[in-house]
Amino acid sequence: MVIRSINLETVCGVTSTLPVNDKPEVAFAGKSNVGKSSLINTLMNRKAYARISATPGKTQTINFYNINDELYLVDLPGYGYARVSEKEKEQWGKMIERYLHSSKQLKAVFLLIDIRHDPSANDKMMYRWVVEQGYQPVIIATKLDKIKRSQVQKHVKMIKEGLALVPGTKVIPFSSATKQGKDEIWELIENECFG
Ligand code: GTP
Ligand code: MG
Repeated sequence: MVIRSINLETVCGVTSTLPVNDKPEVAFAGKSNVGKSSLINTLMNRKAYARISATPGKTQTINFYNINDELYLVDLPGYGYARVSEKEKEQWGKMIERYLHSSKQLKAVFLLIDIRHDPSANDKMMYRWVVEQGYQPVIIATKLDKIKRSQVQKHVKMIKEGLALVPGTKVIPFSSATKQGKDEIWELIENECFG
């Protein structure tokens, strides 16, 4: 994908009305700090257009990045961030569910899982939500640069088993540090949006 323009067009908080877009959308979900905003920056060829942070809980809104006036990359708020109240967690969950349920343009959902860790209870819940809304998520195993190459297959298997993935579900190892996996993810996005 040749990036000609990017624009953070809409930012939705818990009480915001979700936008009604006429271009395809692809969304990125995953626990706080897993690397969603970093992935979106990598896809946009930018270092820090989407705000990233070593402190979990950076993205607390649904952010719609307009790419080339052709499609939207949608950064969902991270879940499982311990230092917010139960009420806030519940509101975020509802906001994500509402988006997955109501978007008319959502073509694909990517669920990000840290390649180093077993999927958490929240990851399993998110996977179930996405499947229940009728999407077959593509799993992105993030922070690939953090493990040895010889360990990759073992960790991918751990994720597949941990989430009890539907057979055929894609798992793409990715690193925003080395950009490995970027082209494969763009190819999937373009197929889902325009294929
Ligand atoms: P929230 O907005 O809190 O939900 O987090 P997020 O999922 O958007 O994560 P973000 O992209 O802000 O990244 C969190 C931290 O992980 C930052 O310190 C990033 O630099 C780091 N990080 C993200 N992706 C990678 C990666 O592929 N490799 C390495 N080594 N670090 C990464
Ligand atoms: Mg973020």
